[in-house]
Amino acid sequence: MTQQSDRTQVAIIGGGPSGLLLSHILSENGIDSVVLERQSKAYVLSRIRAGLLEAGTVQLLRDYGLAERMDENGKSKDGSWITRQGLDSHFIDTHKWTGKRMMVYGQTEITEDLYDARERAGGNILNEVADVALHEVTSDKPHVTYTKDGQSYRLECDYIAGCDGFHGVSRKTIPADILRCYERAYPFGWLGIMAEVPPLPDLVYAYHERGFALASQRNRLLSRYYIQCPLSDSVLDWSDDRFWEELLARFPADVAAEIETGPSIEKSIAPLRSFVAEPMQYGRLFLAGDAAHIVPPTGAKGLNLAASDVHYLSRGLVEQIKSDRPTHLQRYSELALRRVWSSENFSWRMTQMMHVFPDMNGFDSKIQHNSYELLLQNEAHQRALAEEYVGLPFEELDALTLTAA
Ligand code: APR
Ligand code: PHB
Repeated sequence: MTQQSDRTQVAIIGGGPSGLLLSHILSENGIDSVVLERQSKAYVLSRIRAGLLEAGTVQLLRDYGLAERMDENGKSKDGSWITRQGLDSHFIDTHKWTGKRMMVYGQTEITEDLYDARERAGGNILNEVADVALHEVTSDKPHVTYTKDGQSYRLECDYIAGCDGFHGVSRKTIPADILRCYERAYPFGWLGIMAEVPPLPDLVYAYHERGFALASQRNRLLSRYYIQCPLSDSVLDWSDDRFWEELLARFPADVAAEIETGPSIEKSIAPLRSFVAEPMQYGRLFLAGDAAHIVPPTGAKGLNLAASDVHYLSRGLVEQIKSDRPTHLQRYSELALRRVWSSENFSWRMTQMMHVFPDMNGFDSKIQHNSYELLLQNEAHQRALAEEYVGLPFEELDALTLTAA
């Protein structure tokens, strides 16, 4: 079979939020890319993920003309509630402590907006490609091979962006003696449902001895709720009635009284994992988003980290390709990883504070309780939580220089 050849400046593996956003920003800067996505567009748009955007992500989407629908349909938030059984609730007041607001807007919607923007600009997104393989990534002439509809292709490029999620092929291209992986798996999952009922006015994170619960939202008439569940559970174990009963039991009575229940339109269980792969660069391959790191969903950092990776990577690529200045691109991994680890740290602490761990002893419970009490009592803790929740600012390169000095 003959192989057809093509060329682009940046080959992007994966058409999730990371890959699409990168492709859009490059295109706005006059740089050509091709997105190779394994799934169909319909499949990508059917995936339900978190829906809370940091202030920096909101700004990034606005800066690149991607915010029209978000500003119309998303819900701006001054903060969220956090609560612990038997103790007062606390409002994580991002607006009071940081002057910034977050936005409730589903990842599915963002992905749709990104597809629209790429399609309007004539962007090249190839769906349903198979057998993607990366070649000669440490040379200055890398290329990607793939098949589509039984035909094999070769895509020559200057750079490769590995945006293909946790299970993708890009990270695996980095030799095992170079790649360092850091991981923590949690001994429980989140059972999530979507229901066409009006949500609570704000997000509420709840700790209860029966397990964690979260009230979230998508829009005025669409609610998203989660409860911590054993990893061995299947959605078949959870009728809607059982889910609602358990959810209501985990919130303080006054919050539970406000929750409207109804039939679920989606129900799924996701395991919780913390994972980071270092470095995020190997030759001309750059990893971004879930391909390089996973956070547990407590605090909704996943998509926001993908956005900050893409911010750093696009800046490096634009600078290198347009002005032949390698500074930001060369230091991409270092800069991106600083923010990755801060979000990993935050997501881990939030998960640690808000869940029931099966192997917890009395000491662990006391420490957990104390972490929450410190938050209630101490304004420095409140401000720190608000700053991390709303999202740490994107750093400039001098942050690295200063740390190294
Ligand atoms: N070839 C081509 N595409 C692939 C391959 C492959 N071998 N493997 C995976 N992909 C595609 C997947 O089908 C998916 O559409 O890469 C895409 C990766 O998208 P995501 O998993 O959504 O990852 P990312 O774009 O980095 O977005 C991060 O999404 O997963 C959530 O919680 C995460 O919110 C975070 C955000
Ligand atoms: C969600 O709406 O899916 C969501 C919101 C906040 C989180 C996690 C998930 O911390």
